[in-house]
Amino acid sequence: MIREGGFDLSGGKRFQPIGVFDSGLGGLTVLRSLHRRLPCEDMIYFGDTARVPYGTKGETTVRSFARQDAGLLVSKGVKMVVVACNTASAFALDYLRETLPVPVLGVIEPGVAAALEATGGGVVGVIGTSGTIRSGRYQEGLLAGGLNQDQVLALECPLLVPLVEEDKMGQTLMHLAVKQYLQPLKDAGVDTLILGCTHYPLLKDDIGEFMGPETVLVDSAEMLAEAAVVMLRSDELLRRDGASESEVSRVGKMSFFLSDLPWKFADVGKRFLGRPIADITIVGLDEMEAAGDQHEGDLP
Ligand code: DGL
Repeated sequence: MIREGGFDLSGGKRFQPIGVFDSGLGGLTVLRSLHRRLPCEDMIYFGDTARVPYGTKGETTVRSFARQDAGLLVSKGVKMVVVACNTASAFALDYLRETLPVPVLGVIEPGVAAALEATGGGVVGVIGTSGTIRSGRYQEGLLAGGLNQDQVLALECPLLVPLVEEDKMGQTLMHLAVKQYLQPLKDAGVDTLILGCTHYPLLKDDIGEFMGPETVLVDSAEMLAEAAVVMLRSDELLRRDGASESEVSRVGKMSFFLSDLPWKFADVGKRFLGRPIADITIVGLDEMEAAGDQHEGDLP
């Protein structure tokens, strides 16, 4: 059977695509890392470009959007759902794990694990949207991993998302914002900094330059890609395992679903993904609502 998007779903679960969703285009940084790590896997991306940002919205709203985003991916036949958005991971991961019929992976656990491994016992910093930081999920993970309250410093940096989308990397405006937000982290002597937002991997140079070479930057997109390999393998869903030689050298297909086509879509998308984006389908919000209802659980 061939489903929408040209993906062949007839060969068993391991040949189904991986689904990735985000509040908008930022999650393309996660898709990029996933594709680099798992090049032969097919991937379907959904970006909720009509309702971005999630980082300023409340928990109930984000959870309800996340249910629809993930439901849409499941309706396209994905074998796994990756929650690329840090804010959605913070507010909806547990709920999605309880209600979806496929494995679900978020960005927070892999980021926390990498930071715990990298820190030399000093202070670990976390930066993200207001929602991510106020949810306390990163902080809880770090404390559960053995750090004490004085070793965790979390700060919301809401202006960094629009500045990255406006391509202000390396410019004075960005330097000022980075300094304004990160000075307290520098003063506290953080040895490890979790980049807890889809947009921050594009800021590695600006942040690295400000913080200095002693601070390890944890890129949650890269850490998630490693965690995806582990999860797919343990669930026997890795396409490559047991595959023929031709399968090993294949390059996976990518298709894109968005709830709106932003004016700067092509430009922003290319910067985040590292290549131009083709094969885009626009999904109406009524279709999103219907997709959410298919996998409805009691919203806590
Ligand atoms: N994708 C969001 C995150 O990683 C950033 C953009 C937004 O606020 O929606 O938290």
